[in-house]
Amino acid sequence: MCGIVGYIGDRKASDVLIKGLKRLEYRGYDSAGVALINGSLEVRKRKGKVDHLSKLIAKEGLSGNMGIGHTRWATHGEPNDVNSHPHVSENGKIAVVHNGIIENYSSLKKQLADRGKTFQSQTDTEVIALLLEEIYNSSFEISFEEAIQLTLKQIVGTYGLAIVHTDSPDKIYIARKGSPLLLGIGENEMFIASDASPIVEFTNKVIYLDDGEMATITRDNYKVKTIDDVVLTKEVHELAIGLEEIEKAGYPHFMLKEIFEQPRSIADCMRGRVVKETNSIQLGGIEDVMDELVNARRIVIAACGTSWHSGLVGEYLFEELAKLPVEVEYASEFRYRDPLIGRGDVLLVISQSGETADTLAAMREAKKRGALVLGICNVVGSTISRDTDAGVFTHAGPEIGVASTKAFTAQVVVLTMMALAVGKHKGILKDDDMRMYINELLMLPSKVEYILEHANEPIKKMASLFTYAPNFLYLGRSYNFPVALEGALKLKEISYIHAEGYPAAEMKHGPIALIDEMMPVVVIAATEHTNDKMISNIEEVKARKGRIIAIMNDANSDVKDISDFHISIPTTKDCFSPLLTVIPLQLLSYYIAVNRGCNVDQPRNLAKSVTVE
Ligand code: UD1
Ligand code: GLU
Ligand code: MG
Repeated sequence: MCGIVGYIGDRKASDVLIKGLKRLEYRGYDSAGVALINGSLEVRKRKGKVDHLSKLIAKEGLSGNMGIGHTRWATHGEPNDVNSHPHVSENGKIAVVHNGIIENYSSLKKQLADRGKTFQSQTDTEVIALLLEEIYNSSFEISFEEAIQLTLKQIVGTYGLAIVHTDSPDKIYIARKGSPLLLGIGENEMFIASDASPIVEFTNKVIYLDDGEMATITRDNYKVKTIDDVVLTKEVHELAIGLEEIEKAGYPHFMLKEIFEQPRSIADCMRGRVVKETNSIQLGGIEDVMDELVNARRIVIAACGTSWHSGLVGEYLFEELAKLPVEVEYASEFRYRDPLIGRGDVLLVISQSGETADTLAAMREAKKRGALVLGICNVVGSTISRDTDAGVFTHAGPEIGVASTKAFTAQVVVLTMMALAVGKHKGILKDDDMRMYINELLMLPSKVEYILEHANEPIKKMASLFTYAPNFLYLGRSYNFPVALEGALKLKEISYIHAEGYPAAEMKHGPIALIDEMMPVVVIAATEHTNDKMISNIEEVKARKGRIIAIMNDANSDVKDISDFHISIPTTKDCFSPLLTVIPLQLLSYYIAVNRGCNVDQPRNLAKSVTVE
């Protein structure tokens, strides 16, 4: 999920690598490291900023003309010096840097441990180094390249990989599946990187590796193959874009990039956890507390902002799928009001950064009172993830845009998995129910992809008609009531338009007074069991000349005829609906904000991680 660089040529490799890692800093990371081959393998790695690593190298010196480097966004094992990449084989000859997640890492690790291998780190990545070494050393007949191919065939998951070996001090090996890698071709020198930012100042000739491909690189040549050993001829592309564009992967803003990353981040969040083969949900992070969770009197969810909205979705999920009573609280309110919580209760805190001040305080308050405290965080090693009794990481990757998008959907995915796991454990969900839910869950990434492909242009056009609307109302029912709140918050945050989200039926009890021809009303009509009711609400708005923007699906096709605008999305189970309906709302707020000339990634007065009360 984070960054890779590599160099082979005449320059001082440590300079090129450090510079490259600094170029990758925009991605957010928790530690960095390099491995160089100069006679032997030299590794330097450090928790924290690339600057820490660069000072270490300046102090200790590090010579050599080839090597690989990494900035890490931890998924497996907390960010510390040992878990930083590169990871090295037992004999100290092979070094590996890796972006992504090895899904079958625990079973491979166990097998390797049974064969007497010892691990230094808690990462999934280290299994690659050890397995590769074992395979390479198993026979004189196997070349290092073949050993890499055999290793990769045993690996389930995603990777961008760069590997060096002291036996071939003039080569860098790279491989890709689901995590980008490119090769920069220079004059008698080669560069590798996970995006073009570290390469662009040295060369504009690049080759993009595709999934299932690997390459062996020397300073003046490269050979690309599939991991099944089919030799490929790759097109050499010319880089014609600036650094800033590269960092945003061609998107004008991080927010849009992150919106478009959601098919991937949702899949990453489910990776290794939603298991079709065993028809089960495996959340290692809460396994040990499952009995306590199942027998809990109730769950109190405490969070702020967007995370609070995902908490509200969580309430619907837990109460429907696991029949477990849930209350959702603003963390700030919870902490200051002498809350009734104690042994037998569960406090579940949700925070992207894992550092949100009010959420932290709520967590401490509940802990003091004897509740079991669980967390849902995106950042491994964050304070909340360390101080909760247990929890689940969202694995959405670094989120840079201040307005949360992919972290929200990943939180909802975690809540969904938790509710299903508890429901199953309690015997409320039978095997057939689980099969049905799991099949549907696994289809969500491609449904999100479909929305991004088909709704983006229509929403962009529609946004231009509403750029100067002074107010917006968002209405939803059931699972989509929290989505109405989230849609309104997104618009407020980045476009500074006043917007309110309401449960659709509540409209009659107040906000209906606001409706006139100037008021756009976004109606989320994509849950089947509330369809008829939503249609009545739409009619009520229309009768007062409000303009209707409907988010709807085929199951609710009547909505089309009575709306001014509609965005059609794929159908899914009602309980998974927020993961689809929120996507058009993110896009709508994004395009309106862009039209208004707002600073989308850094809206005024807001900060990414609210560490003050
Ligand atoms: C964990 C390991 C992973 C290993 C897998 C199977 C990490 C980050 N994950 O993944 O290396 O492959 O087990 O053995 O090392 N936690 C909290 N509070 C939070 C979030 C998480 O206490 O807010 C705790 C969890 O209880 C767990 C650990 O952090 O002990 C890792 O959580 P998570 O990555 O979600 O668990 P797994 O997916 O099982
Ligand atoms: N899964 C690996 C780890 O946790 C790689 C993370 C990354 O992509 O930075 O170490
Ligand atoms: Mg409730």
